Amino acid sequence: MNYKIFENVDKYIERLLIPQDEALLKAEESLVTENIPLISVSPNQGKLLQILAMSCNAKRILEIGTLAGYSTIWLTRALPEDGKLITIEFDSHHAEVAKKNITRAGLEDKVTIINGKAMDVLEKMLGDKEEPFDFIFIDADKPPYTKYFQLAMRLSHKGTIIIADNVIRDGEILDENSSDEKVIGVQRFNKFLSDCKEVNATILQTVGVKEYDGMAIAVVK
Ligand code: SAH
Ligand code: DHB
Ligand code: MG
Repeated sequence: MNYKIFENVDKYIERLLIPQDEALLKAEESLVTENIPLISVSPNQGKLLQILAMSCNAKRILEIGTLAGYSTIWLTRALPEDGKLITIEFDSHHAEVAKKNITRAGLEDKVTIINGKAMDVLEKMLGDKEEPFDFIFIDADKPPYTKYFQLAMRLSHKGTIIIADNVIRDGEILDENSSDEKVIGVQRFNKFLSDCKEVNATILQTVGVKEYDGMAIAVVK
């Protein structure tokens, strides 16, 4: 499919509304210089996450999948002075680069990077009776998305917004015979969302400078 028009319009929106400062640009660049996959959210998607976090007055944000901290910077900037963001990353190199990017952005006092497997960290948070979060962004490995979402719900309160990235995967979710583990993971998750009585949810298709994909947006009832 030809995505040039989506890319050009996304760049037009960026020029109009999404100026990126040094910290965001450097975080993006760090993916290339540090040999990290180029799978951060786009500038426009980062801004969308920020706006959603601001619109629910989020003071406590949880992110699952840090990469180099690009989305972390967008989200942390939605927080008030006394706000906190916890972000979970399995890969220690990613976590190290993210720490540098977050420090360069001057956000180190608000952000805690936990270097560990998301499932273990989330289970531990539940065991430790971690205070609920106001906003949760799920963006780690795709096969366990349903489990991450279920754990995220248990770390939520009424009104918590939970976003899950990459749930359309170039439209491949339509292929019922897909053998791609990532596709199967998000298909299972999307079905779970449709059956889940505890949240009110939709999926927003995302096009632009990144691959055609989608974000699930849910609010806890
Ligand atoms: N949110 C980031 C992109 C995250 S990419 C942004 O938009 O800027 C997904 C990240 O999840 C990768 O860094 C990967 O190492 C991490 N990840 C994969 N499996 C994980 C797991 N089981 N636990 C924690 N992190 C994981
Ligand atoms: C992949 C993961 C992401 O979080 C993303 O935004 C795009 C692609 C991936 O693992 O393929
Ligand atoms: Mg993603």
